[in-house]
Amino acid sequence: MLLNFKYIRNNEELLTYLKYADNYFESIGYKEHGLSHALFTAERAADVLRQLGYTARIQELAKIAGFLHDIGNLVGRNDHPQSGAIIAMHILSKMDIPEERYNSDIFEVFGAIGSHEDKNMTPPTEIAAAVVLGDKTDVRCQRLRNKEQKFKDVHSKVIAACNNTELKINKDKKEVSLELDINTEICSIMEYFEIFTQRTIYCSKACSVLNCSFSLYINGDRFL
Ligand SMILES: [Fe+2]
Ligand SMILES: [Fe+2]
Repeated sequence: MLLNFKYIRNNEELLTYLKYADNYFESIGYKEHGLSHALFTAERAADVLRQLGYTARIQELAKIAGFLHDIGNLVGRNDHPQSGAIIAMHILSKMDIPEERYNSDIFEVFGAIGSHEDKNMTPPTEIAAAVVLGDKTDVRCQRLRNKEQKFKDVHSKVIAACNNTELKINKDKKEVSLELDINTEICSIMEYFEIFTQRTIYCSKACSVLNCSFSLYINGDRFL
């Protein structure tokens, strides 16, 4: 069997891990990090590569890595990319993947999972870069668990204020644009950058791996 998203998406063991990881995050007051975030990251990572003309196989591997990228939160927030890669190895090694595809496919996925929080570095592969874009642009307000959470800290305020998080790709011009609608009655633009400057730079690094520029628009104004 080739490594494929359908198998991963329907794997009961993985779904249980995601559920418990999200339960852990809920108990410490963090925003949603379960199935919804996994699917969003997977779909967006694959879609970025599709729009830029990468092969269907590269898209599929990015979708798998995107789905699995936060699975390590099951055992704790610290170092979750590394624990996540090990957990993924435990699951994926049970699949009957042809030997000639095992290393190339599996290591692509592990590398993308293991490097997805390395904000001081450039993502090592196109798949890792796509996962970073999927993950770091998921600032949907739906990820907050309740209305009270938006007053918890600045990070939660930013998330609560984001109504739209559209990623636009221009293949010909090699441009990736993140367009955010932020409700400034909830969160000022300054507060957004207080929390998200580092991840904005990380998205820019990810785009460079895909040979694209990165721009950021907030409420129609260009900031990068
Ligand atoms: Fe993460
Ligand atoms: Fe994530």
